[in-house]
Amino acid sequence: MTTAPSLRISELPAHAGQHVVVRAWVTHVRSSGKVAFAALRDGTGVAQAVFVKSQVGDDLWARFAELTTETSVEIAGEARVNPRAPSVLDIGVTRLEIIGPSPSDYPIQPKEHGIDFLLDHRHFWLRSPRQRAIMVIRNEVEQAIHDFFYERGFLRVDTPILTAAIGERSGLFATEYFEEGTAYLAQTGQLYGEAAAAAFGKIYTFGPTFRAEKSKTRRHLTEFWMIEPEVAWNDSEANMKLQEDFVEFLVQRVVQRRRPELDELERDVSKLERITAPFPRLNYTDAVALVQRKGSTAKWGDDLGAEDEALIVEDYDKPVFVFNYPKEAKAFYMKENPDDPRTVLCNDLLAPEGFGEMIGGSQREDDYDKLLARIKEEGLPIEAYDWYLDLRRYGTFTHAGFGLGLERTIAWICGIQHIREVIAFPRMMHRLRP
Ligand code: 4AD
Ligand code: MG
Repeated sequence: MTTAPSLRISELPAHAGQHVVVRAWVTHVRSSGKVAFAALRDGTGVAQAVFVKSQVGDDLWARFAELTTETSVEIAGEARVNPRAPSVLDIGVTRLEIIGPSPSDYPIQPKEHGIDFLLDHRHFWLRSPRQRAIMVIRNEVEQAIHDFFYERGFLRVDTPILTAAIGERSGLFATEYFEEGTAYLAQTGQLYGEAAAAAFGKIYTFGPTFRAEKSKTRRHLTEFWMIEPEVAWNDSEANMKLQEDFVEFLVQRVVQRRRPELDELERDVSKLERITAPFPRLNYTDAVALVQRKGSTAKWGDDLGAEDEALIVEDYDKPVFVFNYPKEAKAFYMKENPDDPRTVLCNDLLAPEGFGEMIGGSQREDDYDKLLARIKEEGLPIEAYDWYLDLRRYGTFTHAGFGLGLERTIAWICGIQHIREVIAFPRMMHRLRP
């Protein structure tokens, strides 16, 4: 490999007519005997290397024959716009260096592969155009998340992954922690987020969270990323307003900036363009009545399952809030509803098109005695929550927050049915490799 300055393929259009150097991987080759072509990919775009036998000389022409799928190369030549395919620039090759040969048994071939095969070869599968489109959209969403909160004066706080306190009811990954007993991988950053909200006002956390859930559904990972804002002085109403503004911002950002990637995924963009605040709101009791009318066996008191969620959203083309669930269906930290103490001030936000719950949020119980009683009722170890209870003893405050599941949100935006495809290396009950 030379040390010549190289261009990324996405930069080539600005250099048409110039001599360029590109480093890339070969995706396929074809030859007429007189002219040969190698399609190139570098993660930013695709280009076509053109070898003309009468011009390149025998040596270079012979080296073209060594190019196989996924060979990595350095190519120099003139960048040219091909009038028949203006979006993919040609490079009239004058120099070819093979950097890394690739044996002819490259596992991913241009044919249908089963999902297990693809997941086993995830390290290669990521190189395909569709996977690239998903990861580019994921990156856009992550950047938009930071922009949204930064512009609104939120402080990002990174919360621990090794914890002693349990946040949610779902399964735990545990590990021995020196002399301190058992540590759990964080299911949520929320409890720490609440402490930070009392210190800084408006905060958000963004990190991996872990749930040892034995659910083999298309919506569950054992390791997923969550964004959790926590806001001092917000009540449940203000919390929902923040959620709809946030979701609108993320979706419209992708629509504006990632049209080519949405097209690569054949996503119906008109459905995303409609995602503007406000979103419809359904009281839990009304939601149960609605799904019962549609034949569900759900009864008041149950948390709503995936099938019920699908029944609710089918009448709408926007995400739907379901608010104020029964206490027993939800986590200990949610604030009792003063107007109906059987329920708590909380909400789920259900994605359209049957993509399910993408946000869970609530106003937090700020009354020391009520919170202590709930911790006891749930049988949680009080010692692990002393610092959390302190937040209610020293200057308690109205506050609310939520957790947005990054992968579920991206799956919906991309129109991908299974969330395993929207994270680079998914972790599921039966998958720890690669
Ligand atoms: O509803 P959850 O459990 O809420 C919390 O963890 C709260 N502590 C959030 C808060 O108020 N700060 O999870 C929030 C979201 C869900 O709506 C879903 O999008 C996602 O996290 N989620 C999962 N995503 C992928 N795989 C799993 N196993 C998930 N479990 C939850
Ligand atoms: Mg939830």
